[in-house]
Amino acid sequence: MDRLIGKKALVTGGGRGIGRAIALAFAGEGAEVAVLDLRPELAEKVAREIADLGARSFSVVANVSDEAAVKSAVAATEAALGQIDILVNNAGIDTTSRLVDMPTEMWDEMIRVNLRSVFLCTRAVLPGMLQRKWGRIINISSQLAHKGAAEMAHYAAAKAGVLGFTRSLAYEVARSGITVNAICPGPIDTELFRNIPEGWRENKLAELPIGRAGTVDEIAPTAVLLASDEGSYYLGASLNPNGGDVMI
Ligand SMILES: NC(=O)c1ccc[n+]([C@@H]2O[C@H](COP(=O)([O-])OP(=O)(O)OC[C@H]3O[C@@H](n4cnc5c(N)ncnc54)[C@H](O)[C@@H]3O)[C@@H](O)[C@H]2O)c1
Repeated sequence: MDRLIGKKALVTGGGRGIGRAIALAFAGEGAEVAVLDLRPELAEKVAREIADLGARSFSVVANVSDEAAVKSAVAATEAALGQIDILVNNAGIDTTSRLVDMPTEMWDEMIRVNLRSVFLCTRAVLPGMLQRKWGRIINISSQLAHKGAAEMAHYAAAKAGVLGFTRSLAYEVARSGITVNAICPGPIDTELFRNIPEGWRENKLAELPIGRAGTVDEIAPTAVLLASDEGSYYLGASLNPNGGDVMI
């Protein structure tokens, strides 16, 4: 219950789903948490839930794919919490299309929201972490980065890009006391998953060894591990709470 005492975290897409669960789990371990989301009402609600747990919290609104918005959101968070020790790059979207029919804008939006955002948010928090010689960067990728999926070439490409980013940055900053790792969840029962066309979801659950979607509470503990001192020897790793979808 006290593995993150004194730590300040920023969770993107923290307004619902996996990000919300991670934000609440961090607060439960004693961290102060900034909840960033595109949707102010979601970010504010989760920040209130965290405050109700007795932890200091802060809500901030930004589109994570917008460079100027990210810069000001990180500056506002650092002003509110003092610093950012832990960044969780969680905000993301999902859409489906056969590649032959995929509009260029769908491809570009996916890369902007699910990959460019990871670069922008990480670059914005790194100077403080490098100065203090301590930091944790946790990127939420997907099991589809390893496995791929029909009608999700754009999503799988963005999420595989996140893994390449994770490993490369891990080399750069390891000796500055900063760890960079990824989590690759399997299908998790959130609005993102529920909004995928039903046939796609049914096929996925049918092939999944565990036979059911996971819950957000089956992902948050992996983020706590990577954020805490117990996670200090993970570097450039991809942890895979995925119901057996990819066994690596
Ligand atoms: N649910 C799954 O099955 C699953 C599986 C593997 C990976 N993931 C990944 O986990 C992460 C969270 O997914 P989720 O299932 O909790 O989704 P969700 O849709 O329930 O929550 C995503 C949150 O991100 C916010 N968001 C979206 N675009 C944003 C933007 N441009 N700027 C700021 N905030 C933005 C949304 O408002 C929302 O609150 C995503 O990166 C997703 O790709 C999800």
